[in-house]
Amino acid sequence: MSSSARSDEGGMGVGLLGLGVVGTAVAKAIVERHRSEDPSVPLNVVAAVVRDTSRKRDVDLDPSVISTNLDTVVANPDVDIVVELMGGVDPAFDYITKALEAGQHVVTANKEVMAKRGSELLATAAENNVHLFYEASVAGGIPIIGPLMNDLTANKIQSLRGIINGTTNFILTKMAHEGADFDDVLSEAQSLGYAEADPTADVDGFDALYKISVLARLAYHTEVPVDVIHREGIREVHAKDFRYASELGYTIKLLAVAQANGESGLLSRVHPALIPLDVPMASVNGVLNAVEVEGDLVGPLWFQGPGAGPNPTASAVMGDVIRIAKGAPSNGSSSSAPKPFPIASMDDHVCQYYIRLTASDRPGVLANVARVLGDADISINSVLQKDTDIENGHADLVIMTHPARESNMQSAVSSIKELDSVLRLDSLLRVETYGDRA
Ligand code: HSE
Repeated sequence: MSSSARSDEGGMGVGLLGLGVVGTAVAKAIVERHRSEDPSVPLNVVAAVVRDTSRKRDVDLDPSVISTNLDTVVANPDVDIVVELMGGVDPAFDYITKALEAGQHVVTANKEVMAKRGSELLATAAENNVHLFYEASVAGGIPIIGPLMNDLTANKIQSLRGIINGTTNFILTKMAHEGADFDDVLSEAQSLGYAEADPTADVDGFDALYKISVLARLAYHTEVPVDVIHREGIREVHAKDFRYASELGYTIKLLAVAQANGESGLLSRVHPALIPLDVPMASVNGVLNAVEVEGDLVGPLWFQGPGAGPNPTASAVMGDVIRIAKGAPSNGSSSSAPKPFPIASMDDHVCQYYIRLTASDRPGVLANVARVLGDADISINSVLQKDTDIENGHADLVIMTHPARESNMQSAVSSIKELDSVLRLDSLLRVETYGDRA
């Protein structure tokens, strides 16, 4: 099937799988803007599949277009481009596959299906000589897939680092600025509609993990399965950590990173990290997203903008739809692997660490902790004793280490937890390295 016009009104037929806030914004972009502003590539919303047809929607679509019947979109010969906005793997994977096999182009905002089954879907698209575009799946309105796929192909990508989850960035920013605790800010984010009722995908780092998997596959031409990516969410970050981090010259962000290291291979990781206050990533606040790409030819590049929201996501979806409508070149092997990278283990990652302990405030405690770290070949950079509780004889010990190997740190942490004088290990956070500094 080609990009020839098939809908009754001429132009290309678009079928929407999902007409929630993003689907409505896409439909509006087609009906209220695109048709009048760029008649050279007429687009028509031929069908939209929804769960509940009775729901009122803020777009001027003929009600006959909206139904619960999948066959009005998937494999319907009047639909040239399927826009998949359902999310999740099941049943989206099957619907996308069926559409591609029927010769329909697909545009998706679905990071989970692109992370977990993207290679299969891209292969199906190539076999059927149709496009599968997914700019909206990562970082909402920020163009990042297109640059990695097209503009930066001459580069060897050295690293990708980003804040690519707006919900967690909103929460961490509030915690940093207001000294609030995670649970309180999460409730506020839920009441404002920034966080889902079940916030797991965002706060436990799954959303960022899917997105970095998609970006890493493109940047490094290799499969980066979601289960090889190190993942930690933000539930264990406490208001106190922002206070102490700030005294040390840092803030805390949920970072998603894919970094190539010649010797050990490609390491992908998602975790909260201490970021020096004077680097741009430290100032990406609220629901904003940012991605820093370092290529060997271009050097460092910086992409920042709205990572979610109906209109920014519709912007990315429509960019892909219009590219197809204008006759994008036939599907190349953008997921091919000229020289796949080996996947590195998190155990080999080297960085500085921030450790916060609740310990007894008595002689020899710090010496014991220092001995355990020393035995694991970890050198201490600085120590703060804070919030001494004279009545109970406790204090917070905040230790910054010099760069150390992750496996050494994990074994040291197990031993520190066993020390009689250590009541709790409250936080273990990695410090992100920038240039020569941490
Ligand atoms: N839930 C995502 C976020 C937006 O908070 O960034 C969709 O990818």
